[in-house]
Amino acid sequence: MDFTTRCIHGAANNTHNTGAVSVPIYQSATFAHPGIGQSTGYDYSRLQNPTREHLEKVIANLEEGVDALAFSTGMAAITALMELFSIGDHIIASEDLYGGTVRLFDNINKKNGIVFDYLDTSDLPKLRSLIRKETKAIYIETPTNPMMQVTDIREVAAIAREHNLLVIVDNTFLTPYFQRPLTLGADIVIHSGTKYLSGHNDTLAGFLVTNKADLSEKLRFIYKTTGACLAPFDCWLLIRGIKTLAVRMERQEENAKKIAAFLSSQEKVRKVYFIGLPDHPGIDISKKQATGFGSMISFEVDTEDTAKQVLERVSLILFAESLGGTETLITYPMIQTHADVPINERLQRGINERLLRMSVGLEDADDLIEDLKQALS
Ligand SMILES: Cc1ncc(COP(=O)(O)O)c(C=O)c1O
Repeated sequence: MDFTTRCIHGAANNTHNTGAVSVPIYQSATFAHPGIGQSTGYDYSRLQNPTREHLEKVIANLEEGVDALAFSTGMAAITALMELFSIGDHIIASEDLYGGTVRLFDNINKKNGIVFDYLDTSDLPKLRSLIRKETKAIYIETPTNPMMQVTDIREVAAIAREHNLLVIVDNTFLTPYFQRPLTLGADIVIHSGTKYLSGHNDTLAGFLVTNKADLSEKLRFIYKTTGACLAPFDCWLLIRGIKTLAVRMERQEENAKKIAAFLSSQEKVRKVYFIGLPDHPGIDISKKQATGFGSMISFEVDTEDTAKQVLERVSLILFAESLGGTETLITYPMIQTHADVPINERLQRGINERLLRMSVGLEDADDLIEDLKQALS
């Protein structure tokens, strides 16, 4: 079945012969047992709930995994994931990660004895040189947030296999519509489901997906023990959002290409970071491992004043955090999404007071360009 069809019919609609086309919201915390030692398959909603199970099957299907776990937020998913590791374990991570992930690693996981090294994971010799006997995993975002660095997932997975390391990929920006890391050698995929999967800027969610039965078992244990599961109504919103994932991803990318071209022609715009631009250093790797470039654009303007002017003047485009939804959003990574990354690291990575990040939505591209034109003028 094609991906587009699987977004809609990726899991059997087990609605007990009612004929309901939309999967029901099983708003029940607990489930009655038919008899002693018997279960309907559902006991308590922290462990499993029929609406959540449907969503998880769709996500596992789209990412080509054996199991997917739905969390209340992306950060809850990453927090649970980190419970796989113990004191002294060493993790190599992309230096340009979402700021909230860096905050978790540096303030919570480090305190619990996990050690991190950050680098540009597209630098494979350097990555290899950082591996030591305590190393347990390589954690990447590709493309990264907000600098759009691209890492070759296949190459990283080949290095990881030599040393028996887990490869973990945050696939929030491209979604399984454009990129399926498990098929490229990754072991675990992460999503902030809040973003493209949900698609409408109306709910928070997170996912872990794996194609390994032993990892699924470990993660399920952590999941039922720590308990940050996604509520039935939010699962239903995700199921609904995913039905249109394919068409949204296509159209948002089409809009992003037009906007990236427009921004590149603007005098006040100094650099445009969009992986679909021919001069983007990651374009060739991107074409090898993904079928599209997504719709995230970062761009640097000439001065801090211009950056502030754009944020204050946009009207159709909303000055708000988050990404991946129907509405086009613009953020200021320096003081918003990446505020908790140490200042020298931010500057070294190019996250300065002139950098803006835009998530291109589903409005008409010309309307968005008009808005940017007046904001930049
Ligand atoms: C790439 C990426 N991963 C993870 C997260 C965290 O997800 P959430 O906000 O759903 O907790 C975000 C949030 O912006 C993100 O952009």
